[in-house]
Amino acid sequence: MTEQHKSVYPVSEAFKKRALIDRAKYDEMYEQSVKDPETFWGEHGKRIDWIKPYTKVKNTTYDYDNLSIKWFEDGELNASANCLDRHLEKRGDKTAIIFEGDEPSVSRHVTYRELHAETCKFANVLKTLGVSKGDVVTIYMPMIVETAVAMLACARIGAIHSVVFGGFSPEALGARIQNGQSRFVITADEGVRGGRTIPLKKNVDKALQSDRVPDVERVIVVTRTGSDVPWNEDRDARYEDLMKSASADCPPEPMNAEDPLFMLYTSGSTGAPKGVLHTTGGYLVYAAMTHEYVFDYHEGDVYWCTADFGWITGHSYILYGPLANGAITVLFEGVPNYPDASRMGQVVDKHKINVLYTAPTAIRALMAKGDDCMANTSRESLHLLGSVGEPINPEAWEWYYRVIGNSKCPIVDTWWQTETGGILISPLPGAIDLKPGSATLPFFGIQPAVVDNDGNVLEGATEGNLVMLDSWPGQMRTIYGDHERFKQTYFSTYKGRYFTGDGVRRDEDGYYWITGRVDDVLNVSGHRLGTAEVESALVSHDKVAEAAVVGYPHEIKGQGIYVYVTLIQGEQPSDELRKELIQWVRQEIGPIASPDVIQWAPGLPKTRSGKIMRRILRKIASNEHDQLGDTSTLADPGVVDELIQHREFK
Ligand code: WT7
Repeated sequence: MTEQHKSVYPVSEAFKKRALIDRAKYDEMYEQSVKDPETFWGEHGKRIDWIKPYTKVKNTTYDYDNLSIKWFEDGELNASANCLDRHLEKRGDKTAIIFEGDEPSVSRHVTYRELHAETCKFANVLKTLGVSKGDVVTIYMPMIVETAVAMLACARIGAIHSVVFGGFSPEALGARIQNGQSRFVITADEGVRGGRTIPLKKNVDKALQSDRVPDVERVIVVTRTGSDVPWNEDRDARYEDLMKSASADCPPEPMNAEDPLFMLYTSGSTGAPKGVLHTTGGYLVYAAMTHEYVFDYHEGDVYWCTADFGWITGHSYILYGPLANGAITVLFEGVPNYPDASRMGQVVDKHKINVLYTAPTAIRALMAKGDDCMANTSRESLHLLGSVGEPINPEAWEWYYRVIGNSKCPIVDTWWQTETGGILISPLPGAIDLKPGSATLPFFGIQPAVVDNDGNVLEGATEGNLVMLDSWPGQMRTIYGDHERFKQTYFSTYKGRYFTGDGVRRDEDGYYWITGRVDDVLNVSGHRLGTAEVESALVSHDKVAEAAVVGYPHEIKGQGIYVYVTLIQGEQPSDELRKELIQWVRQEIGPIASPDVIQWAPGLPKTRSGKIMRRILRKIASNEHDQLGDTSTLADPGVVDELIQHREFK
């Protein structure tokens, strides 16, 4: 155990006074939640409004052959009504969204009443264009208010939104549109981030040109920059034109609790990205409840989650959780280092933000600039900080605590996944003493366990693979269009348990320390990428015979992308080719998949049956080639020496 792991930050006096949940309450509620989930969730399910109340609460089994995950299954509700209509009476004229533009001079407040009216209008627009309940609508947008409107409008009429991150390439967008058989796309002329424009509409056009993507009937284009974009009269329509004549009266569609709310693509260890499907009732209960308790949300608190709508964090903790709670949620179009590294502090001061929820990679990037980058901001309004997306190293934790939080704000290190819908392991700030680098203890209803590679449950202080023993309402229900893959991916490794794909250590206080992925999934700046995805992009280049991709420790990004490339016979390595391959991957997937290091590999280490030994490649990339482990199954040990000799340093 290192020194850092010994430091403990007890619950602060300030939080003892204000917190919704103290330690005794946490213990009592947690115990009830796992001993009697039926009663616990039956009660907490009522925190949202139901059009038809549920009489059944939990119907779940992880038994592989009878796998079933249903929550509140006979209830009916509408997610947009829960985020909008039910607040109109009490806080209609209060702020729902504070929009902060890419340029620091631009910001505006949107009230619940305004957001409700816009959403109803756009829901009517969608209906007029032919969108019906159950249709998949692709949203490829910048971080602007219209994106929230588009998501909520889909929810209002029972369409399934599929948000694709605006940083993904036309190819990646096309693949997602195709997989979801989506006939409708909502986009903007251009996005603006960090002073640069992103050609969203052009990218949509490119994606739709591919013959793999059939049948998109309508592309709705929001005007963000007003620049000229190519136009297809039969297919494209302007958001602003459509909204002019739309009625603001649109009753919410009653949805069954188990009707889909949205899907969101994420990377796995094999194959193409999968469409994680979330349903309506359980998801909303869970997103709202975790938002309230983890961020200790009180009416009027100004809350800022810096994520993008393209990721689950944006869904659960910018949109659905906060709005279901009637919160004030900040929507930021830009990046933390534009115009300069003080931006995050500037935004906090400008809007008197109380809760800041961001990612370790952003914290490390600011930390690298030095304490001065926060010098001209006070951040006095902050009382709570949050972290998400990857393990936060204790150094970054301490810096976040001391510099951004002025040594007075607890940090909630929230562990969860696209698949989990909401936070599963995290401190509650008024209840749980903090240890830098640990996500601490499970949320209500969550039963984590540590298993060895054979699936034996390990007790006490130990280390192994992280599984969940039972379901919670926010859990994903299936992979869109591929239920078999859902079962295979999450429930076949350890029968009867949900496998997270993460490694974990549990200490003597029962605290969980996530150690990172144990499968072939990378976490680059908090973004998930399958090594198989990057490899398949590389081998689709005509000069590449074979490629192997592994992660290595990267100071800012957490993990960097290290690529071993074998060229086809007759091709010569060169710096140009290296640049070309990096460009190729960016074009196939997007800038987030840019290789950091490319090493030319005359051969790759393989077993006699031809399987690439990634374990060895990881060690070489991480400069730990003195700890290669067992190499006796290598078909040609000479390959390894060659790779070590020509390791690329960066
Ligand atoms: C993977 C899920 C959850 C929303 C953002 C990422 C890693 C996430 C933490 C944390 C250590 C974390 C895990 C997980 N991860 N949060 N607080 N501490 N690791 O969602 O893209 O689905 O990725 O991110 O490895 O499995 P995602």
